Amino acid sequence: MDQELFAAAMSARQNAYAPYSKFAVGAAVRAIDGTVFTGCNIENASYGLSICAERVAIFTAISRGYFQLEVLCVVADTAEPVAPCGACRQVMLEFHIKEVWLMNCAGAYRKMKMTELLPVGFGPEVLEK
Ligand code: THU
Repeated sequence: MDQELFAAAMSARQNAYAPYSKFAVGAAVRAIDGTVFTGCNIENASYGLSICAERVAIFTAISRGYFQLEVLCVVADTAEPVAPCGACRQVMLEFHIKEVWLMNCAGAYRKMKMTELLPVGFGPEVLEK
């Protein structure tokens, strides 16, 4: 298990804004050069505008100019390690994430390849000429 990413995701989870679901999530993503970016879920009174922790972490990395990401850790207070939603899996594929650590706050984890999380995915290479 990746202790640094887990600690970063747990810390980011403290900032979750989840007054509607009361389900706080934290995420941390590592770029290929080792830089780590974090995110938490941010909800909205207009529920559909809410965004998951994973996408906040990934978009933060992208907004800082880090396009090559490799590992992401997501954590929530669940019995089993939390599984990312379909939208987040698609965004992970876009930015070359290879491996995802599904975790709970107790530290239980499940390490998954992106190819397992989103098999036969539609990725950016399809649009390359
Ligand atoms: N959520 C995440 O942030 N990541 C996940 O992997 C699962 C769901 C958030 C979205 C929403 O704010 C709350 O958890 C309940 O769905």
